[in-house]
Amino acid sequence: MRKNVVAGNWKMNKNLSDGIALAKELDAELAAKDVKCDVVIGVPFIHLASVAAEVDTTKLGVSAQNCAAEASGAYTGEVSAEMIKSTGAGYVILGHSERREYYGENSEILNKKVALALENGLTPIYCCGEALEIRESGTQNEYVINQLKDTVFKLSEEDFKKIIIAYEPIWAIGTGKTATAEQAQEMHKALREAIAEAYSAEIADNTSILYGGSCKPSNAKELFANPDVDGGLIGGASLTSADFMGIVTAF
Ligand code: 13P
Repeated sequence: MRKNVVAGNWKMNKNLSDGIALAKELDAELAAKDVKCDVVIGVPFIHLASVAAEVDTTKLGVSAQNCAAEASGAYTGEVSAEMIKSTGAGYVILGHSERREYYGENSEILNKKVALALENGLTPIYCCGEALEIRESGTQNEYVINQLKDTVFKLSEEDFKKIIIAYEPIWAIGTGKTATAEQAQEMHKALREAIAEAYSAEIADNTSILYGGSCKPSNAKELFANPDVDGGLIGGASLTSADFMGIVTAF
């Protein structure tokens, strides 16, 4: 059966000492509590090694927020999947709408990144989601399924089984406007059906599909209660241990 996962995405927030302090607080909370989901924090590249060394990564997984589309070489400023793995991190967030929108990441680039992440033993948390105009036109299911068909549905069964999907409607990210529990469930069900069609019912049933977009302690329970919502990818509310733990304990 699929896992429930709550993953934080710190984005470009927290200097090194503040980041380590938050990671240590979460680590202490998780050591003391029996939680019913896997917990991951997505930290800036420059914090990965320090954070991974400070926490029990079997209880608090550490994720990068991106990786290079090439394995190694003359790519000034880039960070490879192999480097990420070597820090002790186990995950990488790929395809976030902010990377697609501000850094021009398209399906071709994302396919290379997903392949390198998998080759290096990282678990991709693969994001998809529609902009407001698409939601308003009523074509959101088809749009998001096409994002997956162009990318992760090209993976072998064996590789697809290793990824986590995160559905993040762009209109709900950082806006305080959450998808309703019904909207989230409807999309997640459609994605699971598309996975069943692309692979098999068994693989669909075992794929964790997270919801992201203004998820908070006050709405997490209602979102996670849906049969096809297996957790969350959390931005703003992952920046304090009280809020993040409030979401983790919604399971
Ligand atoms: P918010 O939770 O701040 O809306 O961000 C969601 C997100 O983009 C997580 O990747």
